[in-house]
Amino acid sequence: MNQTDLFDLPPAAPAPAERILNLRDLLNRYAHEYYVLDAPTVPDAEYDRLFKELQALEAAHPECLTPDSPTQRVIGTVLDGFIPVRHVIPMLSIRTETDTEATGAVAFDNRVRRELEISDLLTEVEYATELKFDGLAISLRYEAGVLVQAATRGDGETGENVTHNIRTIGQIPLRLLGDAPPVLEVRGEVYMRRDDFEALNERQRNLHEKTFVNPRNAAAGAVRQLDSRIAAQRPLSFFAYGMGDAEGWTIPDTHSGLLDALSAFGFPVCNHRDVVLGAQGLAAFHQKIGALRDQLPYDIDGVVYKVNSRQLQARLGFVSREPRWAVAHKYPAQEQMTTVLDIDVQVGRTGKLTPVAKLAPVFVGGVTVSNATLHNEEETQRKDVRVGDTVIVRRAGDVIPEVVSVVLEKRPQNTGPVFDLRKHLNNACPVCGSDIAREEGEVDWRCTGGLFCSAQRKQALLHFAQRRAMDIEGLGDKLVEQLVDEGIIRVLPDIYKLGILKLSALERMGEKSARNLVDAIEKSKHTTLPRFLFSLGIRHIGEATAKDLAKHFGNIDRLMDASEEELLQVNDVGPVVAQSIRTFFAQPHNREVVEQLRAAGVSWPESDGIDSDAPKPLAGMTLVLTGTLPTLGRDDAKALIEAAGGKVSGSVSKKTHYVVAGEAAGSKLDKANELGVTVLDEAGLLALLAQETD
Ligand code: IVH
Repeated sequence: MNQTDLFDLPPAAPAPAERILNLRDLLNRYAHEYYVLDAPTVPDAEYDRLFKELQALEAAHPECLTPDSPTQRVIGTVLDGFIPVRHVIPMLSIRTETDTEATGAVAFDNRVRRELEISDLLTEVEYATELKFDGLAISLRYEAGVLVQAATRGDGETGENVTHNIRTIGQIPLRLLGDAPPVLEVRGEVYMRRDDFEALNERQRNLHEKTFVNPRNAAAGAVRQLDSRIAAQRPLSFFAYGMGDAEGWTIPDTHSGLLDALSAFGFPVCNHRDVVLGAQGLAAFHQKIGALRDQLPYDIDGVVYKVNSRQLQARLGFVSREPRWAVAHKYPAQEQMTTVLDIDVQVGRTGKLTPVAKLAPVFVGGVTVSNATLHNEEETQRKDVRVGDTVIVRRAGDVIPEVVSVVLEKRPQNTGPVFDLRKHLNNACPVCGSDIAREEGEVDWRCTGGLFCSAQRKQALLHFAQRRAMDIEGLGDKLVEQLVDEGIIRVLPDIYKLGILKLSALERMGEKSARNLVDAIEKSKHTTLPRFLFSLGIRHIGEATAKDLAKHFGNIDRLMDASEEELLQVNDVGPVVAQSIRTFFAQPHNREVVEQLRAAGVSWPESDGIDSDAPKPLAGMTLVLTGTLPTLGRDDAKALIEAAGGKVSGSVSKKTHYVVAGEAAGSKLDKANELGVTVLDEAGLLALLAQETD
């Protein structure tokens, strides 16, 4: 071979072993960006392509296979039983402060000061404050940066080896990022987000299977599965909050420093954490998080205070398995006991009949609850809820309160019979008297009355008028009730026939409110195609699908006439959704509603939703919103950013392009400053949106 031949050869492909390492690095990085930072830098398809390439290479070279390979997350492992794991450093519990007032924080600070013999009132103790997650504690052992073992807490001394299940959690790194020490045990909480929990239970209900009591139980059950394929189907998340054993690592001096280090190793660390001074700082954190609790995407039952300095922690030591340097400061419980006074059946927008327990009022999750959903007949029977029973009610976040279970020991002699929806209703809709029916395989009974049923009409109107749909401010519950009951509104387009005279004749409606409502109705006529589609209340068409449909079809006439085949081409539209759209527009009266609404002046920009040539000043950028903006609501800001081609993410990372901060911005703002991410106020955002692109 002569010199020229050598130069003409194509560059050599890397050896398989090298390519495998290379692919793993890439996939680990992309998984961290996707699961932990919530800011992917490559499309899903690219991830899948690299993943498949790695799978193929590993299959051809089994000698290269290692447990930290991203392909090993999805392998099903079935155990006969759990193997005990002795914790090198015991997993402690935290003392709980049940006084949910600010005085609870003062009591803890006083104890710490007494133990440390700090009497000088000007010297304040520095604390790291964080959330008390409601899941289960896990210890993750990394050797040379590779996850080798995951164990539950057990009795604190000995737990169970659950590595096969923990591997399936995308947020937990199989290999640490950066320079990893020879040994590091990371501790934290495995939990389930509320939306994931709701979706999981919804899926269970549709499969006629038992639902989970709360996210904690669902998470704990998943982690303790012998079959990892089952665990893999349960959507679990993770937050790191501490460490156990370590070798060859210089442990940061403070707890907050430790959390920063864990974040840098690739772990999700919750952003709602601060470093504060003294009892006042603790109480302020407790209050701040208390106000935020309902909006968090996961359950917490309190906050945790930890003395920040590790040196002081060592001086404080432990009492009976609880460190003296930490405390959990609680909030009012999200589950309470009460009694069932009656069972009602409510009619939803699509005629769905939902049994609802009428309860002796009880204070739970921060509000007084007197109704709780029982979801459907089957679930009411499975839980065997009867009038007169004592039940556990759960209210977490802004989710509808639900009856979780019956306290059977407290069942009185004279409870009502097992719940039978058809008997309960005498076979007729409780509102309009139409027949009730349940389709084969479905869990829900429905009223067959359609828009003849005033309950369905009311719900359809409320859906139409809601902020995310046509946004008619002032058209709320009470008014809709009156308008439908008095026969003023029979079909949706009747809304646009309302005049000030007709409205001011209604009870409790002054001329001023009537005028405001008429203005709001007028304003709602200028809308967008996605909002309009969503407002029609077609079954299975949520906001996201409405957006996809608008984008795909560009105008409503094409959508109304679309074949099933055409519908199936739309992003995320499957046979059920396609069928639902076809059925809706096959009804002449539904087409008539659309026509009448258009004739009444409801309109939207023609190019709506279509990928147009309009400038997209935020194309490819990720923004994070925090705090309250002076004029824009969160949804408005999000919509504007998305319309400009940007993405809104929930957490700040180095990949974040801008943080938009308003009043009472929290830790996201601190994080932005820490990472040097540009912070904008509302005016700054608007200026950015107005920018011309080249
Ligand atoms: S630290 C030094 N931090 O609470 C104490 N625990 O009773 C070790 N938990 O089962 C725990 N959030 O799973 C710590 N931010 C947090 C926590 C937390 C929830 C759980 C933990 C454990 C229990 C301790």
